[in-house]
Amino acid sequence: MKKIVLLLLTCFVINANAQKWEHLADTPQMGWSTWNKFQGNINEDIIKGIADAMVETGLKDAGYTYINIDDCWHGKRDANGFITVDETKFPHGMKALADYVHSKGLKLGIYSDAGTETCGGMPGSFGHEYQDAIQYARWDIDYLKYDWCSTTNINPQGAYQLISDALRSAGRPILLSMCEWGSNRPWKWATEIGHSWRTTPDIWCDFDSLRVFPGYTQFGVVQCINYNDTLRAYAGKGHWNDPDMLEVGNGMSVNEDRAHFTMWAMMASPLIIGNDIRNMSKEVKDILMNKEVIAFDQDTLGVQGLHFCDESGVAFWFKPLANGDWAFTLFNPTKKDVKIGINWQHLNFTDEEVSKKSTEFDKTVYKIRDVWQHKLVGKTSKKDKVDRTVVVPARDVISYRLIKN
Ligand code: GLA
Repeated sequence: MKKIVLLLLTCFVINANAQKWEHLADTPQMGWSTWNKFQGNINEDIIKGIADAMVETGLKDAGYTYINIDDCWHGKRDANGFITVDETKFPHGMKALADYVHSKGLKLGIYSDAGTETCGGMPGSFGHEYQDAIQYARWDIDYLKYDWCSTTNINPQGAYQLISDALRSAGRPILLSMCEWGSNRPWKWATEIGHSWRTTPDIWCDFDSLRVFPGYTQFGVVQCINYNDTLRAYAGKGHWNDPDMLEVGNGMSVNEDRAHFTMWAMMASPLIIGNDIRNMSKEVKDILMNKEVIAFDQDTLGVQGLHFCDESGVAFWFKPLANGDWAFTLFNPTKKDVKIGINWQHLNFTDEEVSKKSTEFDKTVYKIRDVWQHKLVGKTSKKDKVDRTVVVPARDVISYRLIKN
């Protein structure tokens, strides 16, 4: 009898504190979003064209799944308080668009905000959380990015728990991408609430500078990395640090784009493309579709990489992988090419903070595969001397998979 009462009590507690939808992001989510390229200038033809391009370019086969409509898709709330879609931009409505995207084997994402208004001045979800979740479920939405504008006097943990519970109770699995810019340290409290949380202010398409506006500042690639770097202990399967969406293909140089993409993969970040994939150069396509780099990001061990040391301004990054291999990246954020001599015996360490994995260069000889040249380039050495000398080009990376067997 006691056992039955205990069981009933446990069931009650589980129901009272609904958890987020599980297993929607066991590896970081991959997809595309309207925001970085189009801001509010969006419509259903763009979304359909992007869905077509996802398939035709091979991006879908490379793992990109979500097509995310960011801010400014909204119409008004109807007489019952349900949100509607802007009929000029989306004349066939959101459900028809979801059907189209699903017919391509892709998933559709949408955007809202915990406050009274979104950052673009559209109706926010405040006071309508359950209704909005029901509406998204009716439209067959698969992903919600939930922003943090116009939230004066709203408790952040409460607000994100509320929308997470609402999504759960609406009955359709929807990934929750939290976007409160790291302002309230969500990594401390959101593991059970969302599938990823932004750790930074908004990115802009620049490698290494801030763009300052009255009241807010945007980060370049390097600034995003420096912030996100310190938070690796909080990321893991189903709950990722998000240093914001990709700017690859939006105007940086090829080497900057390559470094940006590689570092996002080293940090197990969500890979949400932000350029117009209907029209992109071969170089950009080769970056976004580098399956060896994507494999670092999507590795099932689910560990965010670590910044081990620096030499002459070049950062040494390691990421342990599920099969015992390591991802190893030399990241040069400086404006000069830098020559680096690698002595593997100086790189023996154990990742005490997260994975407890050791590099063991004193015990193991790894094959070295260059994931940008797509070929084996040598082996690690057990000798205590500089074994390999490379030049890391300015604002670029050299990135290897160190293969154990
Ligand atoms: C905020 C978010 C951005 C984008 C815009 C939309 O700034 O951080 O990623 O969603 O709002 O208005």
